[in-house]
Amino acid sequence: MKLTIIGTGYVGLVTGTCFAEVGHQVVCVDNDPAKVKLLQEGGIPIYEPGLEELVKKNVGAGRLTFTTSTAEGVEKSDVIFIAVPTPPQPDGSVDMSFLERVARDIAAAMTSYKIVVDKSTVPVQTGDKVAEAIKRYGKARVEFDVVSNPEFLREGFAVEDLMHPDRIVVGVRSQRPVPALQEIYAPFNAPIIITDINSAELIKHASNSFLALKISYINAVAVLCEATGANIQEVAHGMGMDERIGRRFLHASLGFGGSCFPKDLSAFIKIAEQVGYDFRLLKEVQHINAAQMDRFVKKIQETLWVLKDKTIGVLGLAFKQNTDDIRSSPALDLCHRLQKEGAVLRVHDPKAMEKAKAVLKDVTYVEDMNAVAEGCDALVIATEWDEFKKLDLDRARKALTHPILFDGRNLFDPAEMERLGFIYKSIGR
Ligand code: UGA
Repeated sequence: MKLTIIGTGYVGLVTGTCFAEVGHQVVCVDNDPAKVKLLQEGGIPIYEPGLEELVKKNVGAGRLTFTTSTAEGVEKSDVIFIAVPTPPQPDGSVDMSFLERVARDIAAAMTSYKIVVDKSTVPVQTGDKVAEAIKRYGKARVEFDVVSNPEFLREGFAVEDLMHPDRIVVGVRSQRPVPALQEIYAPFNAPIIITDINSAELIKHASNSFLALKISYINAVAVLCEATGANIQEVAHGMGMDERIGRRFLHASLGFGGSCFPKDLSAFIKIAEQVGYDFRLLKEVQHINAAQMDRFVKKIQETLWVLKDKTIGVLGLAFKQNTDDIRSSPALDLCHRLQKEGAVLRVHDPKAMEKAKAVLKDVTYVEDMNAVAEGCDALVIATEWDEFKKLDLDRARKALTHPILFDGRNLFDPAEMERLGFIYKSIGR
């Protein structure tokens, strides 16, 4: 099918590329000429495992093209996906201006029936507003359908998640666009759930909020584990084997971050507030998440006593593994907190150092993860990169002035670390 994706951020670029990979003809639109030029030349603006190869392959095969012109994108396809940012505003509500702008641009360019599919994460009832905007700003009186099709991919695993989804949610106001959406998604061999638009929009916010709740829950249980000598990993394993609970998203950590969970939680609380419901459960999820970072910083302070002029090595800057994304990164938050206490930092991240340089100043960026510990009073693991599990622990122990390691991601076995001579402090163990 001929498809257009407006917005080539994480969601738009991965979606467009995977659509091309399964054989659709895809036009990706972005209003940033530099980004479009880079993509046209075979580069990609983000780090996402497997994505660069897929972009190159599909551009080469002529199935994937890039343009800055929304009008061109609208003209070339019958189905237009919107994947633009819906960032948070200071009061927690969502800034819908990018989406509204795109709806107006699509309306102005439409000359025949189009299916306009929203992939951006939006508050419930946005579909109605998009439909109104298209009707209002359309020049020609052409028919159209608005569809809500939320995306569930995780950064760092985006290609994998998109190619092998658990389910595809399609929210519609009439049955007319359904066959087209079924055809688009047929190659992905996943269950397609057809709902009304409001339900589809709610599924997205409710899912992300539930996953964040799961993490805060396990982090709260981790506090009890630390207080009683239990082990959070064993507790999570024992809980997760119950299929009703499930094993995933039960990793205790120094808290969740990223461009989705914190934003979507605030938005969902705000949406609830607007319909007269005080979603206190989710406010507590936020509270537990913030407290988790406070507790971790306190743990470092209690061990090192005064942080002023202490040198601390930090492994990890991205908000999670396999990405260069530093938006709302707990690791960066931690760095800033340590700096505020006067600590001197040596930092490393396999992919996020370039992006971090813009916001994390006055630190030493170290290219080799095994060299970070040199001259440090302690080492901290802040992101769950797999390669940190291969850290040369012998070298680190010798390089540290005191062999102290704070692990905010539980990458190592406490007994083994003790045997190796470390003072090892992790989460909930
Ligand atoms: C999240 C959802 O998982 C996706 O389904 C959704 O599509 C996406 O938001 C979105 O709305 O666009 P993402 O933010 O990319 O995906 O990353 P996650 O893997 O969910 O991790 C989020 C944060 O939670 C990270 O900081 C991670 O380290 C943390 N986390 C995750 C934990 O602390 N413990 C866990 O068990 C899992």
